[in-house]
Amino acid sequence: MSSCIPDRKSKVTAPSIRAMKGRTRITAMTAYDCPTARLVDESGMDILLVGDSLGPTVLGYPSTLPVSLEEMLAHSRAVARGASRALLVGDLPFGSYHESVEQALRSSIRFVKEGNVEAVKMEGGVERTAAIRAVVEAGIPVMGHIGLRPQAVHQMGGFRVQGKTAEQAERLLADAAAVAEAGAFSVVLEGIPTELGAEITRRIPIPTIGIGAGPDCDGQILVFTDLVGLTSGHVPKFVRRYAEAGAVIAAALAAYREDVLAGRFPSAEESYGAAPPPAAQEKQAPARKAAGSGRKAGS
Ligand code: KIV
Repeated sequence: MSSCIPDRKSKVTAPSIRAMKGRTRITAMTAYDCPTARLVDESGMDILLVGDSLGPTVLGYPSTLPVSLEEMLAHSRAVARGASRALLVGDLPFGSYHESVEQALRSSIRFVKEGNVEAVKMEGGVERTAAIRAVVEAGIPVMGHIGLRPQAVHQMGGFRVQGKTAEQAERLLADAAAVAEAGAFSVVLEGIPTELGAEITRRIPIPTIGIGAGPDCDGQILVFTDLVGLTSGHVPKFVRRYAEAGAVIAAALAAYREDVLAGRFPSAEESYGAAPPPAAQEKQAPARKAAGSGRKAGS
């Protein structure tokens, strides 16, 4: 029987993600550079999101708000060079789609043409449907994002769990339905109670990708630096740290520094031999280019 659900080797697309609902769980991860994208892609992850979490996790900004479209494009290009199988989604940053439907369309088109992404994500519910519809009509798949919306941190009064009251939950159910009806192929549910995550997942026809939304979503996403232990400071309750890469890197840096200070690095094996004497040089074929700033130096 033919199926548009990708096997683990074939390219993931927005329609194949859409078709995974109710059949198999969807795995998603953020990445911001080429080597990380390669690792994420090779792990078999379905979706690779170039998140605007780039700001706080990589660029050192206090939040996602200062991140520009130009910064997102540069990092998306790097991620695209490292990924081949996962669906590549670019996160529209704050201010790149809020002014008008035309601006949302322009920014989304730039993301595809200059950032090499295959879909875009935008935060917002009912109020975002005109923009979602226009971008989808332009042929660009859209991932929605409702619940805790980091770009609306000031409006929410902080990074607070959303949808805790019956009234808020009703609003989020309406947001989810509106985003799906506008044509989004999936929607991120961030920072909402487990029961509400399950209810939205039951009610809408498109996959829900949870982050702090409980285990019943159609898929899950985490921020790469949180997962591998490269985030310092406050780590949200929903994060599971699968590695302590920060500690591993710190130990490697300390060991290298100690070796340099003690004269143990570089060793003879890590150094180049002297040039052969002039007589031997004359017999040699044209000399190999000396090892320099490139990374391809020989033995
Ligand atoms: O920017 C981001 O990384 C995100 C994910 C947390 C969904 O929006």
